[in-house]
Amino acid sequence: MDSQIKETAKIIRESKFTIAFTGAGISVESGVPPFRGEHGLWNKYNPEILDLGYYHENPEKCWLFIREIFYDFFANAHPNKAHKVLAHMEQSGLLHSVVTQNIDNLHQEAGSKNVYEFHGNSKRLKCLKCGKVFDASEIDFEHIPPRCDEDGEILKPDFIFFGEGIPTAAFENAFADAEKCDVCIIVGSTGEVTPASFVPRAAKQNGATIIEINPEKTLFTGQVTDIHLVGKATVILEKLENQLF
Ligand code: APR
Repeated sequence: MDSQIKETAKIIRESKFTIAFTGAGISVESGVPPFRGEHGLWNKYNPEILDLGYYHENPEKCWLFIREIFYDFFANAHPNKAHKVLAHMEQSGLLHSVVTQNIDNLHQEAGSKNVYEFHGNSKRLKCLKCGKVFDASEIDFEHIPPRCDEDGEILKPDFIFFGEGIPTAAFENAFADAEKCDVCIIVGSTGEVTPASFVPRAAKQNGATIIEINPEKTLFTGQVTDIHLVGKATVILEKLENQLF
């Protein structure tokens, strides 16, 4: 492992343009459950609660689960060492941007500035009638579903549901950087969710070196990954930070 970490640090130092691609795994050590695997959310909840069509027909029912998952569980989460190392690398000019599938706002809370939220962000809610956006901290989640104070419409969390399009700016920025990067660091993603998983693949096609940090093998491992650093995100990124700084 140590030689792999040394080699990875050398590759990152020599890179002119490095990006990170993160999934639920980077937030697991912050107490945010992953979606798949043994303790995955989709073992406990029916994904239909985040199906856009089903949501529009059953907003009250869906909000019961949405509150439990995204405003009870997620609300108490704080950035961990892995988020902080990526922010440190950005501040030091070793990382250009983070493309994240996560909606937990933890990269931003760790200090990352250039974050492309491919699946949106749970810390914002939106009125689908007048377009007004609310910060989650303004919302009283005792009374659900939360409603717009302009027109009484039920508010929707500003993250994408199944069947909903990827936010345009995040999509364009993510692929623009993937097509420019020398190195792409994948942290804690199965590679099962599309079109997000096309981002590291676009980087690979562009000739980038793909570094993967994950305790398990994923769809990326046998297909695009050049160096698989097997382990938890906090442990591996702390080792990398010690080599880089
Ligand atoms: N450190 C690094 N990786 C970890 C850790 C950890 N401590 N713990 C788990 N992992 C890895 C798992 O091995 C797995 O590969 O993180 C991954 C988590 O898998 P998923 O929860 O499926 O996450 P991801 O692939 O990012 O898919 C998340 O799915 O439901 C959609 O839109 C939703 O953005 C979300 C996407």
